[in-house]
Amino acid sequence: MMVFQRTYWPALAVALLGLLLVPATAAQELGEAPYRPGDYVVEDGKVDPNTYEGYIVYTRACMACHGPDGLGSSFAPSLIRAAERRGWADFAGTVAAGREVQPGQVMPSFADDPYVMRNIPYIFSYMLARGEGGLGRGRPQIIESMQDEAESGDGNQDD
Ligand code: HEC
Repeated sequence: MMVFQRTYWPALAVALLGLLLVPATAAQELGEAPYRPGDYVVEDGKVDPNTYEGYIVYTRACMACHGPDGLGSSFAPSLIRAAERRGWADFAGTVAAGREVQPGQVMPSFADDPYVMRNIPYIFSYMLARGEGGLGRGRPQIIESMQDEAESGDGNQDD
């Protein structure tokens, strides 16, 4: 078992995400270009499979504190604005390392949660889709022409 000092995590997480997550997800393509964290497609309120996955993971792992659909709550800030303001590396680093600025208001570290760690790119995509992409609230549908992509291969990272 490897033990890292908490403070090493942001840099490490960024390195690990760069090395592991991006190549792992690069096989999933949005049209011609390889997928990169934060990429999304919004068409008539529907989304690509990766952004849909981001909604699912967010709802399971983050919503209890950050509120429905990324809007924020009295306890934790809106992640829609955080994603736009912070950018990918900072967003991913915060999820891996956790954060406590206000004493008692704790953002937990997800470094030991592989389900969340491998899905951070999709959570980030979902947040950008909600913000600049204009995606509305609630569970989005997947764009029909992109359905096959979601069902074949390992596109669905539900478990
Ligand atoms: C137990 C409650 C809790 C859960 C669960 C949680 N968070 Fe947080 N999160 C917080 C709190 C509280 C803060 C504010 C911390 C601070 O800055 O003091 C925060 C801050 C953040 C920030 C920085 C926001 C900013 O404005 O800069 C990001 C990014 C973030 N969380 C992402 C996530 C993601 C992604 C998930 C799900 C995988 C998640 N959080 C799950 C409580 C939580």
